Amino acid sequence: MDTYEKVIELARRRGFIWPAFELYGGAAGFYDYGPLGAPLKRGIEDLWRGFFVIREGFCEIECPTIGVEEIFKASGHLSGFSDPLTECRECGEIYRADHLIKHIVEVPDALANEEIYRVIQENDVFCPECGGDLSEIYEFNLMFKTSIGPGGKQPGYLRPETAQGMFVNFQRLLRHYRDRLPFGAVQIGKSYRNEISPRQGVIRLREFSQAEAEIFINPQDKSHPRFGEVADLVLPLRSQEAQERGETEEMAVGEAVARGIIAHETLGYYVARTYQFLIEAGLSRDRLRFRQHKADEMAHYAADCWDAEALLDRFGWIEIVGVADRTNYDLRSHMAQSGSNLTVYLPFAEPRREERLVVRPDMKRLGPLYRGRAKAVADALTALPMEELKRVPVVVEVEGERVEVDPSLVAFEMVTEEVRGEEVVPHVIEPSFGIDRILYSVLEHSYREEEVEGETRAVLALKNRVVPIQVAVLPLMDRPELIGPAEEIARELRSLDLRVEYDSSGSIGRRYRRNDEVGTPYSVTVDYETLEEGTVTIRDRDSMAQIRIARSDVAKIVASLLRG
Ligand code: GAP
Repeated sequence: MDTYEKVIELARRRGFIWPAFELYGGAAGFYDYGPLGAPLKRGIEDLWRGFFVIREGFCEIECPTIGVEEIFKASGHLSGFSDPLTECRECGEIYRADHLIKHIVEVPDALANEEIYRVIQENDVFCPECGGDLSEIYEFNLMFKTSIGPGGKQPGYLRPETAQGMFVNFQRLLRHYRDRLPFGAVQIGKSYRNEISPRQGVIRLREFSQAEAEIFINPQDKSHPRFGEVADLVLPLRSQEAQERGETEEMAVGEAVARGIIAHETLGYYVARTYQFLIEAGLSRDRLRFRQHKADEMAHYAADCWDAEALLDRFGWIEIVGVADRTNYDLRSHMAQSGSNLTVYLPFAEPRREERLVVRPDMKRLGPLYRGRAKAVADALTALPMEELKRVPVVVEVEGERVEVDPSLVAFEMVTEEVRGEEVVPHVIEPSFGIDRILYSVLEHSYREEEVEGETRAVLALKNRVVPIQVAVLPLMDRPELIGPAEEIARELRSLDLRVEYDSSGSIGRRYRRNDEVGTPYSVTVDYETLEEGTVTIRDRDSMAQIRIARSDVAKIVASLLRG
């Protein structure tokens, strides 16, 4: 059994992760979180909120998971969010073509379908299931389509990322932040991608949770006021150049930005915060790195992008977070699609005097020529870009009609004006976290086995901040005189809002093991000394050490241990 199998077996048996719809045979790419998985996931999400909502001061919003077509026309998902698909001509099995050839050539995202097909043919790649021929490749759009309301007239799509919710609400968010940059908005919620054939278990899902922050910044100012807090943090970085050399470099974020390896401070700041979050969530330092996207794999909207990757036993390095500079791509696209103004007025530090060429149609001569429509023609002329005014004849559209105008009817004048600011389309920095991949990586990186008295002890060394059961209360034996005081301690701890497991079945050794393998950091045991001397023991999951404390101190000590 590799670690993946062991962790997944444990996760199923103990109620962290279950294949969804198992009763009806299941469906690839869908999983349930069970009684321990759901609180673990919530713990990770709450830790994320602590980082991005509380400490960064960003607002959290919640938008529908179904979106109207215009959103995805503008975002580019409708036309470009697809993966290459090939099908076995004999057995009909379907594959993601680029994944199929990954072990033959390193596949950049931009590899054209014909190229992939050529690799398949030149390297005699056949269907892994039956050895049959593979079909030519076609693009499969990953969005789930539905229709809104009866009659199927209005198409809708399950969102493939939460980010669009922040973009389409940009104007309201800007107002919320009193029309000032920078500001951030976040969303935690489900996203959907109809992955072609998800064969990587919990890593590639068709329904998954994202936690995304969209930080809107002034494009001319990519410095970050709190960069100093993270500048000395040393991170494992695989820049484009380091990848060429097959290396990962340990480098301070400050140095990476100063040397232009990370494009700017704001991006560096969020790469550093992402690292701190992942370590606090429970990822192992030596199985975590940041890889820069190569030019040909960058998403259509991105100028620079760094993926946090976790090393997993079965799958190798897997992307769990993407931190991207999305430029102003999305806001510009939504401006064009919706016709709304998604700019911000940024005042200059000092007013500037600027010369401006003003178009002045000659109304005296336009009047007789265009009679009642002279004003409309003049307005159309002043709205034309300067290059259009250089053409002969100048063509304008008036009330849907094409009107030709002699350029000598238009005069130009240079005026000097005081300009106090400008309208800009903000740029967006986006840390985008895949919660499910993080959750699985936390499980795998926390899992260890050790020999204890000739037996294997499996431990999930989860961090206290995310652990699903915070404390177990265990009567030494299933006897009424011990059960009563143990239940009373459990009640007291629950009244402090702690997640408590009360367990009285089986030997105490087995109960300790059961709690070790689900990550319970502390176990309080009630024994006969509790009755005689008013004391209990507290056992530490990692060291297995036990200390004896006064019964009356249990709540105080457990609460302080969990905080530490
Ligand atoms: N808004 C940007 C965006 O969605 P992405 O790299 O496509 O970027 C961000 O996704 C994160 O979402 C990934 O790093 C990954 O953790 C998670 N993710 C993406 N597709 C996934 C899938 N099919 N199953 C599970 N998680 C996925």
